[in-house]
Amino acid sequence: MFLALAACSGTSTTGSTCPSSGAPTYDNFGRRFFTTYCSGCHGAGAPNRRGAPRDQVFDTEAQIKAHAAEIDAVAAKGPNASNDDMPDMAGPVRSPPSALERERLGQLLACEAAMSARQAETIPAR
Ligand code: HEC
Repeated sequence: MFLALAACSGTSTTGSTCPSSGAPTYDNFGRRFFTTYCSGCHGAGAPNRRGAPRDQVFDTEAQIKAHAAEIDAVAAKGPNASNDDMPDMAGPVRSPPSALERERLGQLLACEAAMSARQAETIPAR
């Protein structure tokens, strides 16, 4: 699945990690990033999706977490790759995110993944 994605869009995983201090969160970074750069096409209520897939909706932290790997591969920057397929500039977005914002995005996605892993460890098996 990932290979097919990488092959069709020429993107790859950034290898970003969650910083131990000053990590971006959905509240202090994510919500604004996705509202500014993505929701115009990917939001559930977007009046014109301009072809953005119906299953790629990023209105909530949970939706972003569910698509973290795909988002990383098309829009984030990290030690292993600098991806800029998204945002597609054929719509409402006037200027793309800066390199710093793309790095913060990669970190946020890594933090979300780490959070899920920690939750899985602390939930006792029944
Ligand atoms: C102008 C409209 C538009 C904007 C803005 C936009 N996208 Fe997309 N997005 C698309 C379209 C069209 C597709 C499907 C075609 C493609 O994959 O290029 C897509 C596909 C995707 C996919 C599926 C990946 C794949 O290769 O199948 C992801 C993940 C994604 N976008 C993330 C984002 C993120 C993250 C942002 C904000 C940084 C964003 N998009 C902004 C239009 C948009």
